[in-house]
Amino acid sequence: MQFENQTALVTGSTSGIGRETALLLAREGAFTIVSGRNAAKGTETVAAIEAAGGKARFIAADLSDLDSVRHLADEAGEVDILVNNAGAYPFAPTLEQSLDTFETMLDTNVRGTYFLTQTLVAKMAAKGSGSVVSVTTVAGLTGMAGTSVYGASKAAVDSFTRAWAVEFGKRGVRFNAVAPGHTDTENVANMVGQEDFEALGAKVPLGRLGAAREIAEAIVFLASPRAAYITGVTLPVDGGFMALGPTEQ
Ligand SMILES: NC(=O)c1ccc[n+]([C@@H]2O[C@H](COP(=O)([O-])OP(=O)(O)OC[C@H]3O[C@@H](n4cnc5c(N)ncnc54)[C@H](OP(=O)(O)O)[C@@H]3O)[C@@H](O)[C@H]2O)c1
Repeated sequence: MQFENQTALVTGSTSGIGRETALLLAREGAFTIVSGRNAAKGTETVAAIEAAGGKARFIAADLSDLDSVRHLADEAGEVDILVNNAGAYPFAPTLEQSLDTFETMLDTNVRGTYFLTQTLVAKMAAKGSGSVVSVTTVAGLTGMAGTSVYGASKAAVDSFTRAWAVEFGKRGVRFNAVAPGHTDTENVANMVGQEDFEALGAKVPLGRLGAAREIAEAIVFLASPRAAYITGVTLPVDGGFMALGPTEQ
């Protein structure tokens, strides 16, 4: 049990990658704070953790709302592990990008992540230990049509990760990011269309979509003491997507 006596907060753990991450952290002994806007799904994630013998609680929060971010940080108290997973992803071609969804992505993915981390990391630094893993995307590391704002919002988080690693390294806090490739979660598959999504998965070197659990395994590794000498990196977990050469795409 590598996270015994530790508390972990996973944002956006009402579904998909965040839910799998919360389940894994709790299985390894962390008291896990589940968060998101959907209380029914949050309660269901907590029930799944408890059914597997773990300990968890749900705190409702909307990361696009700064008051809600502050409330989450206060309610969570001191955490040892923070997983910044919550993300808004209303993709749009640049010529069709609305101000509304532009602001949703920036407010949730950038501002919410930043100010939640700011509050929780102050407590980690005071204690001299902690680990933060943020979930970004391969769309922030490469050019992908239709994801200009989404990719930029997550690239900002990759940049925070490097800056924070430098700023807090000597105070015992590590920061890393996991950049998932095409990952088969219900909401994303519904948005893209299951068939089209699977066709995208078929194009990556491993020839398939990733599973939420496979992304969660990388997040949990980076959060754990097994990654004690790793900080400031963004790890693509993408079935080889980032390794594709121009003639292979
Ligand atoms: N699936 C992929 O192919 C893929 C690829 C690259 C990166 N990612 C990233 O991976 C992360 C998880 O995505 P997923 O695929 O697991 O999709 P998902 O199931 O839709 O998960 C998104 C999570 O974020 C939460 N969330 C969204 N807006 C929020 C807000 N304003 N305040 C608080 N929580 C909010 C949602 O919870 P509520 O609805 O309860 O608020 C949900 O739990 C996201 O950051 C996404 O950008 C996914």
